[in-house]
Amino acid sequence: MATKIKRIGILTAGGDSPGLNAAIRGVGKAALGSYGMEIVGFRDGFRGLVENRRIDLDRTALSGILTIGGTILGTSRDKPHRMEIDGRTKDMTGVIKDNLKKWGIDCVVCLGGGGTQKSALRLYRAGINVITLPKTIDNDVAMTDSTFGYATALDIATEAIDRLHSTAHSHHRIIVVEIMGHRAGWLTLGAGLAGGADVVLIPEIAYDVEKIAEAIGQRSKRGSNFSIVAVAEGAMSRDDARVFDSAEKKLERAKSLNEKIEAKHAIAALEVRHQDNTLRLAHQLEELTHLESRVTILGHVQRGGTPSAADRILATRLGTACADLIAREQFGVMVAARGENAVPVPLDQVAGKRKSVPRDHPWIDAARRLGTCLGD
Ligand code: F6P
Repeated sequence: MATKIKRIGILTAGGDSPGLNAAIRGVGKAALGSYGMEIVGFRDGFRGLVENRRIDLDRTALSGILTIGGTILGTSRDKPHRMEIDGRTKDMTGVIKDNLKKWGIDCVVCLGGGGTQKSALRLYRAGINVITLPKTIDNDVAMTDSTFGYATALDIATEAIDRLHSTAHSHHRIIVVEIMGHRAGWLTLGAGLAGGADVVLIPEIAYDVEKIAEAIGQRSKRGSNFSIVAVAEGAMSRDDARVFDSAEKKLERAKSLNEKIEAKHAIAALEVRHQDNTLRLAHQLEELTHLESRVTILGHVQRGGTPSAADRILATRLGTACADLIAREQFGVMVAARGENAVPVPLDQVAGKRKSVPRDHPWIDAARRLGTCLGD
C-alpha cells in the first residue's frame, strides 16, 4: 500500500513497563518492512522531542530487543504542556510542533499509560499527527481490554504471593503484601485470585479494618493461623476514602486558581500520608488479631525484567497494527486490544478516563465465592 507517511517518531512516556521494547520493535519492523518508512526514536519521553535527543531505529537497532525489559528509549513523566526548562515550567507544545516540521517527521507514536494518552490528545489537538499504544502494569487505560506490562507484573505479583505463603504458614503470621496499580485494583485483584490471598484490598472497595481482622480470626478458628493480605497501593479504609473523596470534590468545584492550588495541596498532603498506609494496616491487624504481622512491598520489582509471553504477543500485535493505521494516516487514536483484534479508538474517548475494576466484575464475584475477604 502506498502511503504519504515517510518518517515516524516514536517515544515511551510515563512509568516503564515490560513489553515496551516488543512494541517498539513491532511498530518499527512493520513500518520498515511493509511500508519502507523511516523510524526515529526519541529519548526520555516527550523531553526528547524538545531536546532533539534521538536514536535511528534501523533494522539493527530493532533487533534483539523483544525480550529486554524497560525501554531502550528511556522514559520520563514530563508533559509537553508543563515541562521544567531551566528551572521554569513551560508549555513546549509549539516547540515540539516546530521541531517535528523541521526534522520532517510526519507523525509521533506515543507508548504510555493514562497520563501519556492525555498529553498525546493535547498534541493532536495542537495539530500534530499522533497515535498511541496502551502500556502500563496498572491495566487502567480506558477502552482497551488490556495494556502491555500488566500480564508480566501480574505474574511477578502472583509468584511473590506464592512465596510469601510458605513463610507466613511456617511462622503463623499475617503477611501484608503491597501491590502497585496506582488507583486501580487490577493487579492486586488478579494476583490475589491467582495466588490465593486470603484478603484482597483494592481502591474500588473501601475497607473496614475490623472486618479484615474478623475474617483473619475466623481463619485462625478453623485452624489456619496465618493469612496473606494483598493490598493495593491505592486501597483505603472507609474513613480515608471519605476524606479523599471530599478533597477531590473540592478540587472539582474549585472556581479560582487559588482554590484549585489549595485543593491540590490538600490532596498532595493526603497522598503523602497514604504512603505508609500498608505499614499502618499491618500494625492495626497485629493489634486486633494478636498475630504477628510482616509487610512486603513489591514496588518496582513488578515493573522490571523480561516481559512475559502474553505481553510480548500483545505488544507485537498492537505495534504492527499501529504501523498499518499510520500508513492509512489514521491519527488521534489509541490502538486498543479488543478480543483478538486491534482497533483504533479516538483519543478523546481514552484520555482522562481511568478503567477501574467494576464492583460487579466476575473476578470480584469469584473471590467472594471462595470466601476471600474484600474488606467490606
Ligand atoms: O503506573 C505504573 C506505576 O508503577 C504505578 O503502579 C505506581 O503507582 C507508579 O507507577 C510508580 O511510579 P514511579 O515509578 O514514578 O515511582
